[in-house]
Amino acid sequence: MARCSAPSAPRFEHHDGSVLGIGVPAPRLSWTVAEADAGYVQTAYEVEVTRAAATRVFTVETADQVLVPWPTERLGSREAARVRVRVRDAVDWSPWSGPSTVEAGLLSPADWAASFVSPRSLAGLQAPAPVLRGRFDLPAAAVGRLHLTAHGLYEARLNGHRVGDEVLAPGWTSYSHRLRYQTHDVTDLLREGDNELEVLLGNGWFRGRLGFLGERGLYGDRLALLAQLEVTDDAGGRHVVGTDGSWTATESGVLADDLYDGQRTDLRRPSWGGDGVVDAVDVVPVDLSVLVAPDGPPVRVTQTVPAVAVTRSPSGATILDFGQVLVGWVRLEVRGLAAGAEVVVRHAEVLQDGELGVRPLRTARATDTYLAAGGAAEVLEPSLTFHGFRYAEVTGAGAVRAEDAVAVVVGSDLRRTGWFSCSEPMLERFHDNVVWGLRGNTVDVPTDCPQRDERLGWTGDIQVFSPTAAFLFDVGGFLTSWLADLAADQLPDGSVPYVVPDVLHDAAPTAAAWGDAAAVVPWVLYERTGDTAVLARQLPSMRGWVDRLDSLAGESRLWAGGFQFGDWLDPTAPPDDPFAAKTAPDVVATAHLVRSADLVARAADVLGRHDVAEHYRELAGAVREAFAREYVTPAGRLLSDAPTAYAMALQWDLLPTAGQRAGAQRRLADLVRASGFHIDTGFVGTPLVTDALVGGGGVDVAYRLLLQTSCPSWLYPVTMGATTVWERWDSLLPDGSINPGEMTSFNHYALGAVADWLHRVVAGLAPAAPGYRRLLVEPRPGAGLTSAGARHHTPYGEASVAWERDGELLTVELTVPVGATATVRLPGQDELTVSHGSHRWQVPDPCRVSAPRAPRTVRDVFDDPAIWAEVVSVTGAAGIAADEAAIAKRLTPFLDAPAGELVERLFAHGPHQARDLLIKQLQPLLTP
Ligand code: BGC
Repeated sequence: MARCSAPSAPRFEHHDGSVLGIGVPAPRLSWTVAEADAGYVQTAYEVEVTRAAATRVFTVETADQVLVPWPTERLGSREAARVRVRVRDAVDWSPWSGPSTVEAGLLSPADWAASFVSPRSLAGLQAPAPVLRGRFDLPAAAVGRLHLTAHGLYEARLNGHRVGDEVLAPGWTSYSHRLRYQTHDVTDLLREGDNELEVLLGNGWFRGRLGFLGERGLYGDRLALLAQLEVTDDAGGRHVVGTDGSWTATESGVLADDLYDGQRTDLRRPSWGGDGVVDAVDVVPVDLSVLVAPDGPPVRVTQTVPAVAVTRSPSGATILDFGQVLVGWVRLEVRGLAAGAEVVVRHAEVLQDGELGVRPLRTARATDTYLAAGGAAEVLEPSLTFHGFRYAEVTGAGAVRAEDAVAVVVGSDLRRTGWFSCSEPMLERFHDNVVWGLRGNTVDVPTDCPQRDERLGWTGDIQVFSPTAAFLFDVGGFLTSWLADLAADQLPDGSVPYVVPDVLHDAAPTAAAWGDAAAVVPWVLYERTGDTAVLARQLPSMRGWVDRLDSLAGESRLWAGGFQFGDWLDPTAPPDDPFAAKTAPDVVATAHLVRSADLVARAADVLGRHDVAEHYRELAGAVREAFAREYVTPAGRLLSDAPTAYAMALQWDLLPTAGQRAGAQRRLADLVRASGFHIDTGFVGTPLVTDALVGGGGVDVAYRLLLQTSCPSWLYPVTMGATTVWERWDSLLPDGSINPGEMTSFNHYALGAVADWLHRVVAGLAPAAPGYRRLLVEPRPGAGLTSAGARHHTPYGEASVAWERDGELLTVELTVPVGATATVRLPGQDELTVSHGSHRWQVPDPCRVSAPRAPRTVRDVFDDPAIWAEVVSVTGAAGIAADEAAIAKRLTPFLDAPAGELVERLFAHGPHQARDLLIKQLQPLLTP
């Protein structure tokens, strides 16, 4: 008997469960094995494939179980296969897994008999949303499939029943290169004889407002639909009908719809048209070779959140509070309104002075309006828009109760795969905020923000956030699709648009950290999912980007000058100048060139393209040398003398000598002390700084930075009631007012990228081999937390690490999924390797305090949290410095001075009446 449980039913590519309408004709398979005896190692697997009536079994001798090749002939269009797997160790076969079914979509443009159709005279830019209608006489269906897509958004009904549960379909891709179609099982909605298919079309990304320049209709000015209904009768005959010139169009009750501005709906009109002018349709020519099947999950309603309070604002407005910044819309039940009464719902993420704070939305109106049908009760809810909000102001609905409203959360229906917990509730709340930030910014495309007139696929944001995203949710298919858009929108010279899909159309978009998404995101996906195909597909795009930078750098090997975002939103940059970071843009640029060239070399090696790898390794080496020559002193000081510069140099191996590395590590830690343990990095440095500190032995300094609560810091927003990660460190200022900067979002994920470090380093759960086939378990407990843990559904199954320390002992618990192993490094212990199962260790607590030691230097004073807190409090009370940052700044020049001289050093600028008091209060702490 086998020594393991039956494998899970196989997954296909990055899809969960059975898949309808897959676009990959030879889908790779993955499975997990929930339980196995200690010595179990897979030596072979069998795949049973049933297609048409024939069943075949394929045996493969290997330990692989993630994204293994399709074992047989490719699927044809519409072809389905039922697949099971079983595995064997040295002893015997496991039971068979349950089956899952994969069915191909329409794989070739020639499979489409239908044509795109568009209303002839209705559906102008300012006109109501149209409903397109087709009627078909069909035989009884054994199987029915509806394949469809649109220019614009669509929502379909067959014989009066909604098709599927997707919203905002077909989603957003680089439409001129890739337009997604969806496939639905409509067998149960069909009837013998007359059938009616109705499709509501909205403007969406295709024709609505997009970008901060106020443009509309960026992809075209006509809404259009492509729908093909395929019915297989009992005898196996196929009947294909679809959009053609016989369709008609009417106006729906949706008078206006826009993603930014909201939706206006007249509920007195039949919502699906039905009355009024019946328009003909035109068949419009569209190149069907752009059609692609989905790689990831669609956008759906993922949750509803009840209103927690209804308040009256100072101006008398009724405001609903959902208690959470989220993305979607409000569903509101109203009663007893007169026909035609207008109800207005406006949205905002924050309140200012008790009123909706809508300035951060810029020109996005984010307003849904309804003209009531009149009657006892009616439900108001849009479907062709979305908003980022926590609060909604309702006008015209009479008395609104909290139980009348829910917030409907929409987003790509990504499977949650990662969790973090710890002993500090504020840090847990921060982590929840990261999760909500991700949910709100994955509405089909990884965006910067979900609320203002932007919501674009900014490359820099996902570049820094992709490791966090890949831990928290299964983003394999989601990012695979986005990377295909990136490659499609990449310029012929290799430049990468600032946003993907590209709607800004900059002629020469080359910005470090933004364009580098081309190299970084595929590598992150490979590292986290084990998918080599994504590397193979993206390699030309990755190379294109680095080649472009290579040519920009030229002989000097320094990428200097030209437009850069740089270390965007460095907290010391003024609100109206986010470019004004401390780290020179040239330093950021050349560092990124090294990093991306390195990643291309590594990707090429994985793919066996060693000649290609060699080229990029040499390039990375040459640029590294140039960087060190130009920007690094022999002792390891950097231009710029700012945390982001050191963090990049340390994390990306830009410092040639051990002495320079040690010097840079010391300097970075001192810069963090100098800021009074406040964050001092923007988009570029934020994901790196804590790793760089820990790498240099500065675990405690990293924890001080992590657990800081005053502004700027990760936890400051939590103290201000944040429920998402903000765009700026101080989107809400300490006085509760909204940051005056023109870009002030309360839902931006970039600065939450430190969550990846919480998972990998604080909890200690990291991938050591692609797809977590080997885990690196190296928890780094620090003062300030007594416990932490992370769980992740790796491609092999659930892995978890949890630690707890009690001042004497550190207890570490680890679960390794079947098929994976773990390299374990515990404080003060030799490295060990363990295989699947549960493990537990106890070692001396690395944070235990032996006898308290008097500080020797001023630096030691900074590093002792208790003494430092006393220094800050006493100096604050004496009116010497306003806060921790100010006192740190004052003392920074004296870090190496004896601790006993601290008070003297404070008064270096002259006498002060508090001198004697301070000596009395502090001196006992500072001298042995
Ligand atoms: C976006 C950012 C983006 C940036 C470019 C902003 O408006 O919201 O997150 O990366 O522009 O620097």
